[in-house]
Amino acid sequence: MENATMTGQELFDHKIENDLKIEPKDWMPDDYRKHLQRQMSQHAHSEIIGMQPEGNWILRAPSLRAKVILLAKVQDEAGHGQYLYSAAETLGKTRDEFIEELQSGKAKYSSIFNYPTLSWADMGAVGWLVDGAAIVNQVSLQRTSYGPYSRAMVKICKEESFHQRQGYEIMAHMARGTEEQKAMAQDALNRFWWPSIMMFGPHDGDSPRTGNAMMWKIKRETNDDLRQQFIDKTVGQAELIGLTIPDPDLKWNEERGSYDFGEMDWDHFWDVVKGNGPCNKQRIKHHIDAHENGSWVRKAANAYAEKNG
Ligand code: 3HC
Repeated sequence: MENATMTGQELFDHKIENDLKIEPKDWMPDDYRKHLQRQMSQHAHSEIIGMQPEGNWILRAPSLRAKVILLAKVQDEAGHGQYLYSAAETLGKTRDEFIEELQSGKAKYSSIFNYPTLSWADMGAVGWLVDGAAIVNQVSLQRTSYGPYSRAMVKICKEESFHQRQGYEIMAHMARGTEEQKAMAQDALNRFWWPSIMMFGPHDGDSPRTGNAMMWKIKRETNDDLRQQFIDKTVGQAELIGLTIPDPDLKWNEERGSYDFGEMDWDHFWDVVKGNGPCNKQRIKHHIDAHENGSWVRKAANAYAEKNG
């Protein structure tokens, strides 16, 4: 029961313990605030950078229907990014500061977006696997302890299921198509499977952030738990459309009621996270160019806002 005699820390601990949301005006430990500023801004960066690999195919979509669907999805991601930047700004840092951290390389974004999208089937693999993984992660984050982040996740999750379904529809369509189309879909699955399961982050034992994240109920499930959930729900989807998960160690474990799977290449993962992936430099350069070319829009909008109050 909250009472007026509680210190800031006691009230914070009481709210965390009782699954009550921490709100922007509440007292919070500096480390809790910094942890959220880092995770939420990097989440927002991921949404915005994630627009590039898919935006690459809007002009090359195979039909008007496909183009309209992809356009809608990429626009959604922009909205998710803006939503998350706004939620992150409630913690006392500005969007400009977050953008500077991204463009200078100080801040991270999801490694998955540093891979090229080489064929239309990649649009299917990204929607099905990347958004599929994001759904598992973001459904869990709906229960995060920070109010604005939790509410942002509720809104974003409503749109993610469309993202995953449209990707799976592309894969199913191609897997039922010509031999060449099926081969394209399998090739996309081969290239995106391992980077997608590594989206969930390092193993729990190698995750420096998970301890605090779980203590403060920022994370409600660990990296490995969420990864396992994603794999367990996705393997059957691949089998249903006749595609093969590129993991020779993948095997149903009756005792665990889950799939056993092979070890991920963490040296490669950290190399990509450190900036040496196939597209890291191109993604940041594109972001800087777009940000600079769009500065007149920000200036005009700010001038209008100042003039009209
Ligand atoms: N890519 C890049 N960096 C990663 C990473 C990945 N896939 N996984 C982990 N890292 C980084 C972490 O950011 C951390 O570095 P930092 O301390 O400098 O930030 C370090 O590796 C150690 O990882 P931890 O697991 O200890 O860190 P976290 O507890 O923060 O867990 C996370 C990482 C699971 C990504 C967590 O931050 C999270 O859940 N973030 C919110 C969700 C998110 O950002 N998803 C990214 C994709 S968004 C997306 O796909 C949108 C969709 O619409 C397409």
